[in-house]
Amino acid sequence: MSKKIIQSVKGFNDILDNQVDFFRQIEKVILSVTQQHNISEIRLPILEKSELFNRSIGNETEIVNKEMYTFQDKNGDYLSLRPEGTASCVRCAIEHNLIYDRGIKKQKLWYYGPMFRHENPQKGRYRQFHQLGIEYFGYSDSNSDIEIIMLGQRIWKNLEIENISLHINSLGNDDDKKKYAKTIETYIKKSSFNLDAKLKSTLERNPMRLLDSKNEDIKDALKGLPVLYESLSKSSKSRIDLVLLKLDDLGIKYLIDNSIVRGLDYYNDTVFEWKHSSLGSQDAICAGGRYDSLVNEIGGCDVPAIGFALGVERLVELIKEKKGSCQVLNKCIPIINVSVEDKSYCAAISNELRNKYPKISFHNTDSSASLSSQLKHASKFNPSYLIIIGDEEIKNSSFLIKYVNKKTDDITVSKQELFKVMGSI
Ligand code: HAM
Repeated sequence: MSKKIIQSVKGFNDILDNQVDFFRQIEKVILSVTQQHNISEIRLPILEKSELFNRSIGNETEIVNKEMYTFQDKNGDYLSLRPEGTASCVRCAIEHNLIYDRGIKKQKLWYYGPMFRHENPQKGRYRQFHQLGIEYFGYSDSNSDIEIIMLGQRIWKNLEIENISLHINSLGNDDDKKKYAKTIETYIKKSSFNLDAKLKSTLERNPMRLLDSKNEDIKDALKGLPVLYESLSKSSKSRIDLVLLKLDDLGIKYLIDNSIVRGLDYYNDTVFEWKHSSLGSQDAICAGGRYDSLVNEIGGCDVPAIGFALGVERLVELIKEKKGSCQVLNKCIPIINVSVEDKSYCAAISNELRNKYPKISFHNTDSSASLSSQLKHASKFNPSYLIIIGDEEIKNSSFLIKYVNKKTDDITVSKQELFKVMGSI
C-alpha cells in the first residue's frame, strides 16, 4: 500500500534552485546598496513575545487581529512568528542600547528574512514570505525621507527593473490621525451608505483603513470626503510639502495617493509604497514611512525613525517577467570519472582545482554510472568544457579536455596544462 504524501503547509513555499538564483541576485544588490549607504546588518529572531506586535502594529489591525501565528509555549508565554521586522528591530535597538545612550544615537540598520502572516494565499501573497527591511533611527529631517526613497530607487536601478511608481501620502501627527479618523466616521454615519459587517467592523476598529479598501462601493461613498492633506496640522503640512519639493528637485516622479494609509498603526507623516502594475492586485513591492513614536511606545525614549520593507517574492516575480531566467554567474565544469581502478584520484584532483580556482564550480558526476549517462547528466549544466579522467589518464598523469560547443578536437593535457586552461577561464 502506498503511503500518503505529506505536503507543505498552505502558503509556505519551497524555493527550488532556479528560484534561488533570483533570490541570490536580489540579495547581492541588497548587500551592495546597503554597503554603499553605510547601513549595518542585524539578524533578528523569528519568534518574539506576542505583546511586542500587539503594542506596535496595533491591536485593531488586520495583521494582529487575524493574521499572526500565535501560540503559547511550554511556560505559558504567548509567542508569535514575526509578521514583519520593524517591531523586532526597534525592540533589538532598545535592548542593546543601539539608539540611546545619554542622548539619541543615529543608527541605520537592515535585516532580511522570512515573515509570517496567515493571509489568504494568492499570486504575490504568501503565508511565509521574505522581506528586506531598512530602518533609520535618530533621523528626523526631511532628508532622511528622501534618502530612504532614493535607496529603494537604487535597488530597482541595480536590478534593472523599470516602471515602479512611487505613491506617497502624509498621515500627519498622532492628533491629525485621530482627528481624521473621526472625520471619516462622521462622514460615513451621515451618508446613506450601508456598510456590510466587514466594513462596519473596519469603521469601528480602524476607520482610516476604509481609504485603502478595494471595495468599489465604499470608494464611491468616500468620494466627497475632505482630503487628508487639508486636515493636517501646519507642521505636518509643511513637512510633506518640503519632501515633495525635494523629490521634484531630484527629478523623482511620484503620485500623491490618499489611499496610502498603511495597515500598521505606528506610522506618522510621510508614508509611501512602490508599486508595479504588472503584479495585479498585490502590486506593492515595497512600503514604509516615518514612525516617530514607536520607539517610545515599545519602552524606549523619543527617537524619530523612518524605514521600509521590500517584499522579495514580488521582486522575484518582476525580474522573472523581465529576464525569463536568471544568469548563473558561476561557470560549471563537470569532472567525469570513468576510471575502474582508482576512484579516489578524481576526488584529489577536484580538491586541488577547487583550492586553486575558488570562483569556478567543479561538478563531479556519479562515477558508478556509464560514460554516456555521466555525459548526459553533465550537459544539464551547459558547460563549455568537460574534464574526463579514465584509467589511461591516471596511468599517464594526464587529463582529457572535451570542448562542448566549439568545433575543437578533444585534447589530452598534463596536470600543469590543465591548470593553465582553468586559469584562462
Ligand atoms: P508591509 O506593507 O506590511 O510593511 O510589508 C512590506 C512589503 O512586504 C509589502 O509591500 C509587500 O511587498 C511584502 N509583503 C507583505 N505581505 C506579504 C505577503 N503576505 N506575501 C508576500 N509579500 C508580502 C511592513 O512590513 C513594514 N514593517 C514596513 C516598514 C519598515 N515600515 C517602516 N519600516
